[in-house]
Amino acid sequence: MNPNSLVSIADISREEILHLLDEAAYFESNPNHKLLDGKVVATLFFEPSTRTRLSFETAVNRLGGRVIGFSDAATTSSSKGETLKDTIKMVSNYVDLIIMRHFLEGAARYATEVTETPIINAGDGAHQHPSQTMLDLYSIRKTQGRLNDLTITLVGDLKYGRTVHSLIMAMKYFNPKFRFVACDELKMPEVYKNFCRENGIEFTEHTELSPEVINTSDIIYMTRVQRERFTDIDEYNRVKDLYSLCAAMLADAPENLRILHPLPRVNEIALDVDDDPHAYYFDQARNGLYVRQALICRALGIDILKNSEA
Ligand code: CP
Repeated sequence: MNPNSLVSIADISREEILHLLDEAAYFESNPNHKLLDGKVVATLFFEPSTRTRLSFETAVNRLGGRVIGFSDAATTSSSKGETLKDTIKMVSNYVDLIIMRHFLEGAARYATEVTETPIINAGDGAHQHPSQTMLDLYSIRKTQGRLNDLTITLVGDLKYGRTVHSLIMAMKYFNPKFRFVACDELKMPEVYKNFCRENGIEFTEHTELSPEVINTSDIIYMTRVQRERFTDIDEYNRVKDLYSLCAAMLADAPENLRILHPLPRVNEIALDVDDDPHAYYFDQARNGLYVRQALICRALGIDILKNSEA
């Protein structure tokens, strides 16, 4: 396994997280650097994506590298039965870095075991989405001025939502208070609640997104109900619209509150929230570009802050 691979947010320390956020801030101010001259990066997306794939590809372009890859595995030889192992080994022959999204939990970890080429996990099933977590941390720090001692409310699909799972793990360094708002069918899995208990993270569970919860949060992190993870469409239809945030619900919200969402949204944030000053989800997605520039550099052993000081 290449040590520069990023499969889980747990692969990086508190110090490294903070350094990467500083690098991302540098890229936000100075987006174009020819640091990847001569490098080729593969984006292998076995699951649909808009933001993650396009921001990773934009990041490579802004860094002066080149991109190959696919956004629809049906057009590749995996549709003829080629295994993930063989696909990864083949693509490793061509590129310096592989960025992959796969519907199977553990697929990215498995990929690291069959190649020495660094791998960045762009989402594996309901498991992890570490680059999303880094952009979430960047957005939280940017809007709140700190990462420590914040009250963060996670709402919606806490069972299948990989972004909330990764975020909980990363926040263990920053003394958060979590509120988990979900229906019984989609509540936070025991494994992540145990993670909180083992790491001294306070959390409470709620079934309602009440005014009391909204008005005492620093961050409200809305999530989409992950239709693609359900085996029973009737169950999806029962729970898909249980939580929907609208502008009227934010009338007494604290000034510093920001609404995050990894996107895409369906019905969980009404359109009238888009113009509310608490809305931050489109800016959050833009931050993904800078964070992913930093993550690509990390994977290729480049430290922009050291380079720029030299
Ligand atoms: N947040 C996120 O992963 O979006 P995409 O599925 O569009 O990449």
